[in-house]
Amino acid sequence: MRHLVTAALPYANGPLHIGHIAGAYLPADIFARYLRLRGREVLFICGSDEHGVAITLRAFQENTTPQAIIDKYHPLLEQSLRGMGISMDFYGRTSDPLHHEVSQRLFLRLLEKGWLEKRSVEQFWDPQAQTFLPDRYIVGTCPHCGYEEAYGDQCEKCGALLAPTDLRNPRSRLTGAVPEKRTSEQYYLRLDALQPKIEAYVRCQTWKPNVGPVIENWLKAGLAPRAITRDLSWGVPVPLPEMQSKVLYVWFEAPLGYISISQRWAQSIGEPERWKDFWKSPDTHITHFIGKDNIVFHTIIFPAVLMAAEEGYTLPAAVPANEFLNLEGQKLSTSRRWSIDIHEYLKAAPHRVDELRFVLTALMPQTKDRDFTWEEFATRINNELVATLTNLIHRILTLLWRYGGEAGVTPPDYLLQARAEAARTVAAKIEAYDFSGALEDILHLAQVANKSLTESAPWHKPQGEALSIVASYADLLAALGTLLEPFLPVRVAPSLRAQIGVELFPWERLEEPTPLISHVRLKDSPQPLVVKLSSEELQHLRAQLFPTASTSASSAPMEYISIEDFQKVQLRVVTIRAAERVPKADKLLKLTIESADGIHTVVSGVAQHYSPEELVGKQAVWVANLAPRSLRGIQSEGMLLFAEDREGRLVRVAPESPVTPGSLVK
Ligand code: 2FM
Ligand code: ZN
Repeated sequence: MRHLVTAALPYANGPLHIGHIAGAYLPADIFARYLRLRGREVLFICGSDEHGVAITLRAFQENTTPQAIIDKYHPLLEQSLRGMGISMDFYGRTSDPLHHEVSQRLFLRLLEKGWLEKRSVEQFWDPQAQTFLPDRYIVGTCPHCGYEEAYGDQCEKCGALLAPTDLRNPRSRLTGAVPEKRTSEQYYLRLDALQPKIEAYVRCQTWKPNVGPVIENWLKAGLAPRAITRDLSWGVPVPLPEMQSKVLYVWFEAPLGYISISQRWAQSIGEPERWKDFWKSPDTHITHFIGKDNIVFHTIIFPAVLMAAEEGYTLPAAVPANEFLNLEGQKLSTSRRWSIDIHEYLKAAPHRVDELRFVLTALMPQTKDRDFTWEEFATRINNELVATLTNLIHRILTLLWRYGGEAGVTPPDYLLQARAEAARTVAAKIEAYDFSGALEDILHLAQVANKSLTESAPWHKPQGEALSIVASYADLLAALGTLLEPFLPVRVAPSLRAQIGVELFPWERLEEPTPLISHVRLKDSPQPLVVKLSSEELQHLRAQLFPTASTSASSAPMEYISIEDFQKVQLRVVTIRAAERVPKADKLLKLTIESADGIHTVVSGVAQHYSPEELVGKQAVWVANLAPRSLRGIQSEGMLLFAEDREGRLVRVAPESPVTPGSLVK
């Protein structure tokens, strides 16, 4: 059996954080490494997802191009994954012309086979940004509760599910402009007509307990045709002359990236046809590692596209989706900066990659959401990784060195049995996508060995006997050099193998209760594999990496100021009399404000959150005695205060009811 292992293609519009790693990349890597040790043929691929409206919007907000955004993040994503030891055979990208070709060909094939239909749809258009707006990028008044900041898909206040057309006074979150309704033609994938095929496929697979019910709910509700084209300029162009300003929907083409990236890999090894071994062969087992928000796309839509093409594509055999990892009790979010980003962790703790892999495996959200805390990060490293596992290894190596460093190895039967049993259960758990369970089994094996070593007390024996007792544990170390490889491959497993002078063993050998080695010789004095994380080191890491969430409850230590310090700040309520955009500065508005002593000018970085019209006539809180400075050639006096919400949106801070301009805030 041949294996294709994929991990969700990350969007190239932001960095990877610990939730991504625990959700998809680490399980995929453990699985792929294990399969290789089993001697299976494995292709493990991933790549950047470089289309989609989020990238377009990001570019708009940053006043740059989508190309610049993806060119910035594509290498960062690959470096972060490689830095975490994710052993992909190839990392591609969906802006690759080959990917465009594959996606366009599939689209035309589906059209030819009659699985697509054209429909007219009404959508909102932002006249200022010259783009159609996704539902969530429209805000307005909720028709149910009157909340003025409801999103086009849902009101966060009363929870009502909405369509953007339900909102009163809709406006674009991007520019503040009033969106226009425009009719546009799109191609729809006939998921309704494909439902019987999808059901037949879905019903003959086994799904993880957190995945199956999600699929069933979709099927029960009945699949509806789904638009697979969009009015955007960034993406894979729809290959039809009458649809020149449209692109393929990102969720139609991104999964096809698994195919195009396999093709790129095949070309890179000089065997351009090899991808077919994986994609056109019933002997290949395809496993897609993803997060729970991707389930429907991988279990319903992507297989539907593959089946509809009728070209003999291999269908996904398993989609072991994980739930989410939270951080200190809150959802991870890059935009809110509530996150531990991988490239930053790698910079702050370059020698502690296996430690992070260990903790993220232990906390892997396999069936339910889990929570990462710094406290637990330290406890898991110190009390499990070090105290249970690497201390045992170091203890054995140190004794061995002390008693001579070289001996024949004749392990007792119960140790061989315990190791073989552990190798079998670890394998079974990895194959059932229970990676944290597999790691626990290894820790359990270490506990058994620890206890038995203590009981055999070689330190009370004459040197020759002591050496042979300790050397009998070298077989277990040799086994751990392979057992740990899927989990801790960056430094721990290779260093262990190097210290005892062994290579990787085929996994099958570990499952047999027969000795792996007959002799051991240490070349150098043993080096600890992992050192405990001191409270100073933890503090230091926290300080460097602790999320600076833009809202509430950060547990970063509070730095207090005195009342005298506070009284230095002069806060006044002012009325905004005029507002205009600052030319060539997408983020800035020039505001004319009225205070007690007359009119002032403030340049404020809120142009992406408020249109000038929205602010005129409103009151705001002004820091009156902030030293004036020049912004884009305009002298800005003081600063207006805005609160930042969960989505990173700025909201004006103002008195509950109007007050005389210039009133002091105290
Ligand atoms: O959710 C995401 O990050 C998507 N970019 C995953 C895509 S997976 C595959 F379909 F490409
Ligand atoms: Zn509401």
